[in-house]
Parts: sequence; C-alpha cells; structure tokens
Amino acid sequence: MKLFIDTANIDEIREINNWGVICGVTTNPSLIAKEGRDFKEVIKEISSIVDGPISAEVISLESDGMVEEARELASINDNIVIKIPMTKEGLKAVKILSNENIKTNVTLVFSPSQALLAAKAGASYVSPFVGRMDDIGNEGIDIVKDIVEIYNNYGIETEVIAASVRNPMHVLSAARAGSHIATIPYNVFEQMVKHPMTNLGIKQFLKDWEGVSPK
Ligand code: E4P
Repeated sequence: MKLFIDTANIDEIREINNWGVICGVTTNPSLIAKEGRDFKEVIKEISSIVDGPISAEVISLESDGMVEEARELASINDNIVIKIPMTKEGLKAVKILSNENIKTNVTLVFSPSQALLAAKAGASYVSPFVGRMDDIGNEGIDIVKDIVEIYNNYGIETEVIAASVRNPMHVLSAARAGSHIATIPYNVFEQMVKHPMTNLGIKQFLKDWEGVSPK
C-alpha cells in the first residue's frame, strides 16, 4: 500500500518526505485555508517537493467551472491530480478531464456505488472517507473493503485512497482491506512511528554501552 500525506502544510510535507515513506500528497479546501496562503502558490510548492501525485480540489459545483479550474491547476505541474466532488456534475467533469488525460481524484465518496460510478466516468483515484463514516456510527473501513472487492472483480484500474484517516488502526485496516493508498495526516504518522518498547530498548542499549565504551 502506498502512503500519501493529507495536509497542505509545507513543514509537515518536508518532514514526512524526508522519512522516505510517502509518494503523494492530498489537500482539500479546508486544509489549504488553514495555511492562509495563495492556493496555487501552495500547490506549486508542494508539487516541487514530492515527486508523486498531488491532489488539488476544485471549488465550482458546475462541471464547466470544474473543468476550467482543473485545466488551470493541471498546468501548474505534471504531477497535479484534480480532486472532484462525487456529484452528477463532478462525474461529467471527470469524463471530460479523463479524455484530456488530466488525472482526477473523486472525493467525498461514502458508498461503493458512488465509487463504481466514479471509476466508470474515468477517475484515476477515488477517496472513500473512513473517519467521517465512523463519525456517523458506521464501520467506515467497510466501504474501502467493498470498493476494493468490486474493483478487483472487474480489473478496474482506478486506485482507492483510504481518506479521512484518524488513527494508526485506520491505516492498518486500509492495508488489510487491500486499499492501494492511504492518505494520512501528520499527527497519525507521528503516532505510527512511536512505540514505548522502542524507547525502552534504546535507553537500555545506551545504558549498557556506557559501561563498556572507552572514556
Ligand atoms: C483527503 O483526501 C480528504 O480530504 C481528507 O482525508 C478528509 O479528512 P477529514 O475527514 O479528517 O477532514
């Protein structure tokens, strides 16, 4: 499973990119707004740091507007992927963009039937929102499992991005479900890397070494 980082914060992206564990970035309007900077400037900077797909989301609700925004965003760099909301207008836009070889990530996916439609329209990626489904009392990861199964049944090439990831268990469940990608916030990467036994082990090794190392 590939790992992306879910943020628009440059420091977070640089740090996790330096760990050597990510090969893509996802953003959304809320994440961009938190940075208080020009949208296109942020996307341009991110796309120069990470050598992989960088998702940037459109704001328009009509397909014409989405396509116009998408073309402009796609011109920033070759690795830009256009995030399109899962609506009827969104599907129309995905179809047009896919014919122009512009990659799309259909976002706000909450059901396998939405994911099937997105793939049929030509989406490069779909993003089922695991955490937000959990929030309303469902088992969010089940959507990922169902989409992966359906795509596998028919050799569909659209890649599944487990999104709205809130904790390390979401990441592991996505990996068990066969998700192609999980997009992970910075704090969850921090949680994943830590283990108290690792810290204890380092402490013990250093203590033992102090006893034999030449002064
Ligand atoms: C990524 O593609 C999504 O926009 C993001 O994961 C949503 O996460 P949230 O539900 O924690 O806002």
